[in-house]
This record gives sequence, C-alpha cells and structure tokens, in this order.
Amino acid sequence: MEKIRIFGNQNLRLKGKVRISGAKNAVLPAITATLLTQEKVRLKNIPLVKDVYTILTLMKELGASYNIKKNSLSIQVKKIQSPQAPYELIQAMRASILVLGPLLARFGKATVALPGGCAIGSRPIDLHIHGLEKLGASISLKHGYITAEAKKLHGNEIEFEKKTVGGTENLIMAACLALGETVLKNCSQEPEVTSLCELLVKMGARIDGLGEETIRIKGVSELGGATHEIIPDRIEAGTFLVASALTQGDIVLTRVRPDHLDTVIEKLRYSGTQIEILNSSSLRAIGSKEIRSQDITTSPYPGFPTDMQAQFIVLMTQASGTSFITETIFDRRFSHINELLRLGANIEVSGDKAIVKGKTLLSGAETRATDLRASASLVLAGLIASGRTIINEIEHLDRGYERLEDKLKSLGAKIERIKT
Ligand code: UD1
Repeated sequence: MEKIRIFGNQNLRLKGKVRISGAKNAVLPAITATLLTQEKVRLKNIPLVKDVYTILTLMKELGASYNIKKNSLSIQVKKIQSPQAPYELIQAMRASILVLGPLLARFGKATVALPGGCAIGSRPIDLHIHGLEKLGASISLKHGYITAEAKKLHGNEIEFEKKTVGGTENLIMAACLALGETVLKNCSQEPEVTSLCELLVKMGARIDGLGEETIRIKGVSELGGATHEIIPDRIEAGTFLVASALTQGDIVLTRVRPDHLDTVIEKLRYSGTQIEILNSSSLRAIGSKEIRSQDITTSPYPGFPTDMQAQFIVLMTQASGTSFITETIFDRRFSHINELLRLGANIEVSGDKAIVKGKTLLSGAETRATDLRASASLVLAGLIASGRTIINEIEHLDRGYERLEDKLKSLGAKIERIKT
C-alpha cells in the first residue's frame, strides 16, 4: 500500500515553476469519442493518471487497440467486439458511463453497468437515459445493467432538467451519428465539453453552439480520424494556485489556460493572493501573509467549480474570520472535513454549508483520502500543518493528479510517496 508523507510547516514558501498536465475530465470523453469511428485518433497532452488507464482497459474490452508514447495516445476501434461495459470498471470510475452514448450510436446497442453509490453523494444517470430515449433508444434494466438499443438514433430536441457534464457529453456523442438534427438545451458549458465538441468537429461532426447552453448537432453517417490536443487541467492548476496562496508562495504555472480559471482567480484575488496573467498559457500566483475570509457557492461553469471546493476550504482555515462554503452540485461532498478536523481545523457542517472559522494552526496527523479532490485538500493542509502528515488510500489522488508529489517537491515541499 502506498501513502503520502508530508513534513509540513507554517513557514513553508513554495517557489518555482510547475507545468500543468492535460485535463483528466477532458481526456476521458475524448477517449470514449473514439468509439464513434473506425479510424485512428491521436490525442496529445494526455495526463498519465489512473482514470486514463481505467478507461483504456474498458476501451480494450470493447475492441480498441492503443499505444501511448510519452503523453500522446493513438487509439483505434476498428470494430466493436462487445458492447458491454462491466460492473468492475464502471464501479472503479463513474466516467465509464461515457461509453454509453457512442457505443449505442455506432453499434446500435450498449449494455453498461449502473454506477451505483459514490463517495461524493448519489450520482444518478437518469438524465443520460432520458436523453437517449428521446433520441429513440429503448432502455431496459436487468441484473444491475442498463441496455440501450436503437437500430438508428433520430435527432430530437432535448432540454436537460439540470446541468450535467457527463449527460451533455454522452448526448452530444450519440447525436453525432443520429439521423437529422438534435437540439440540446441547458447544456453544461464546462471547457471540457467544448474540447470534446472540438475533437468531434475535427472527426467530421456538424456541431453548432460550442461552449453555449444550446448546442445543435446535425447527424452524419460516419466520423473519421483526427488529432487533438487535450486542454490543460484547470483543477490541477487551481490546486497549485491554492498551494501558493496557502504558503505565501511564488509559483509560476505554465501550459495553463488562465481563461478557464476566471472564477477561481477572482476568489483567490479577493482572498489576497496576487495573480498575474503572464500570457495566454502562464500565470503567476504570489501568496499574501493575510488571507481574507469569504463566502463561496459552487455552481456549474462558469461558476465556482465543485472540484475546487475542498481545496478552498483548506485555504479558508487560514483566513481571518468566518467563511461559508455552500456546495450545490453534489450532496455529501464534505467527507474531507472530518479529516481536516483531525488536523485541528475549525469547521462545522450544516446541510449544504461548511462554516469555516479561521485562522487555525494545523498540526500533522494520519489521515485517509476519501475521494479525488478530498485527497488534494489533505495534501494542501499537510503542507502547512506542523509536523508529519500521512495520507492513506492515495489511489484516489492518483486517479486524477499526475505526479502531484513530484511537482510539489520541485517547488520546495517535503513530500514523498512511501510504501508500507
Ligand atoms: C463531472 C466531472 C466531475 C465534476 C462534475 C461537476 C468528469 C469525468 N467528471 O462529473 O469532476 O465534479 O462534472 O462539475 O467530467 N445528475 C443527475 N442525473 C444525471 C446526471 C447528473 O441528477 O443523469 C446530477 C448529479 O447527481 C450532480 C449534478 O447532476 O448533482 C452534476 O453532475 P454531472 O455534471 O453529471 O457530473 P459528472 O459528469 O458525473
């Protein structure tokens, strides 16, 4: 079992340059989109994280062959071998549900295990299912598996009841090969959705309204190969910005998209962090001695991302005053708080709100990671907690961060991965 060990201290000042990896949430749909063509697709700047290997295992089972060289992936699904996504893989990673739309569109049938419960609250897939039904699929549920069938999908108008990133992506992919036009309303506008649309357009899809709430797709009979570069990970970037803010650091982020981080930058500036946008792909963050408390509410893009909530809670433990952090996207996404309490943070949870009272001195302890972003928040807390912090169950961290400990070490942190 691997753990992360951090020797933290209040006087740590992170300093230096860090290169941001490709976005996990952009590469996963890009990989499943390759199910829509029999030709080869090349994806550049992919992050080498566990979720990518998990989706590739699933893709192989479905019939893909692939090859990774450094951070480039060549993948081809000449023929779909079996349109079935097994429980072990869906369970390991919820985003595996992103095979549903493209499999159905290309093969006429898809059988995918229901994802079930998840550490960050109930995460249903009803909106994916309703959308596919509107495109003409018949859906049945047996033995924990959903089977979607349609000889040919037919375009339709679908309005999402609630914004869903994965649901938007699944429906866009399915509609690319449907007969006629599909109009999707109330779509998620996350940069990862737009990046998927850009890839699909390169593959020959006819999509209008990229990045907007209404997306129109004119179905085509087939898609072809393409080369596409994965956008930088805005959540990894945000995590390093918070690391700089917490440690009065001076960190330059390279290969980043500042325009994807507007809300996070605004909140950091309010907290006192100096953020300089150096150019279209680099940012500098200089932390200040005094951190200002503030209220934050998570919401769909371009709002404040739920995936940055845990990291900002750590920052607010070091602010003078009380902050109210409201989580509106996922219920029960506060599991990191119990662990932060063990480090000495003063946080109360009331419904969907975390009330963070600062400033508290944190002291290192043994902790366990409960989900991906929760683990990142524990790493951040460990950097400024006095003494030793151990983080167990770091497989969550490895799902989405590429060499986080090496990157932090290069900035001056005392952090290492240990085997027990
Ligand atoms: C994606 C991201 C995840 C991020 C989340 C919200 C990926 C691989 N993961 O997850 O990192 O935290 O967006 O920004 O891109 N919902 C339903 N019914 C559905 C689908 C969703 O009720 O059919 C609800 C969910 O329970 C949640 C909300 O809608 O409350 C948003 O979920 P969604 O945007 O679908 O998240 P994911 O795509 O799973």
